Amino acid sequence: MKNILVIGATSAIAQTFIERMAVGDNKLFLVARDKDKLSTIKNDLRIKKNINITTFILDVNDHNNYDSMFNTAKSYLGRIDILLMAHGTLPDQKECEEKVETAVFEFGINALSIIVLCLKAAKIFEDQKFGLLAVITSVAGDRGRQSNYIYGSAKGAVNIFLQGLRNRLTKYGVSVLTVKPGFVDTPMTAHLPKNLLFSKPEVIAKGIVKAINKNKSKEIYLPGYWRIIMFIIKSIPGKIFNKLSL
Ligand SMILES: NC(=O)c1ccc[n+]([C@@H]2O[C@H](COP(=O)([O-])OP(=O)(O)OC[C@H]3O[C@@H](n4cnc5c(N)ncnc54)[C@H](OP(=O)(O)O)[C@@H]3O)[C@@H](O)[C@H]2O)c1
Repeated sequence: MKNILVIGATSAIAQTFIERMAVGDNKLFLVARDKDKLSTIKNDLRIKKNINITTFILDVNDHNNYDSMFNTAKSYLGRIDILLMAHGTLPDQKECEEKVETAVFEFGINALSIIVLCLKAAKIFEDQKFGLLAVITSVAGDRGRQSNYIYGSAKGAVNIFLQGLRNRLTKYGVSVLTVKPGFVDTPMTAHLPKNLLFSKPEVIAKGIVKAINKNKSKEIYLPGYWRIIMFIIKSIPGKIFNKLSL
């Protein structure tokens, strides 16, 4: 039996993860900002899976509500075995370049909200002396590209933050899993033309569950071939890279 907290539970990737984890005696505490979407997910799971599940409404821009969310989660779940953070936005890079407020807002959602939530979660995990914290970042955080460097820099900041957190929490028996998907066919990328590099959210969720079951405390690429793609992209010398329209 696992007690599972999911933040950003209405995300397409999180929903397929939740479907997979909604088994046996597992208990789920789902957090998202959209009340209607969240109650549809909850009701569907209750009918299909007869699982222990409750929900909490949180807009991650509302930092003042974080403590209340964690306290409610702890009183429902008791101990937290697994925490998955999945919320995020794909900003309009051009708009971020023109309006500094947009850049700050988008960086806030994709980096600062995750970092603050992780800092609060870290205290809980440290006290428990066990648990696994998984955060979905992105391959976009591996190297800045002109087409999405606000998103990329936010994901990159979280990657570095999680490296430090992993270093801090390992001695408490707590795992920190950084999940770096490549392109995924979800509402976030609905406006983009699709190609062979796009994966279905189910593939990403399957990879996350596999890594969690193995209690991995490291960075993973999903699907795994993105490790090779990003190795190649990171290896391109700056002189050449800067001439490419990526
Ligand atoms: N799709 C890709 O190609 C791709 C690739 C690499 C990494 N990722 C990452 O994977 C994660 C999941 O994304 P996805 O692809 O599953 O996209 P998605 O279905 O669009 O999910 C994004 C989620 O973030 C939530 N969210 C956005 N702003 C929020 C806020 N202020 N407060 C609370 N929740 C907020 C959305 O809530 P609402 O439902 O209320 O809008 C939605 O649940 C994200 O971190 C994303 O950056 C995605």
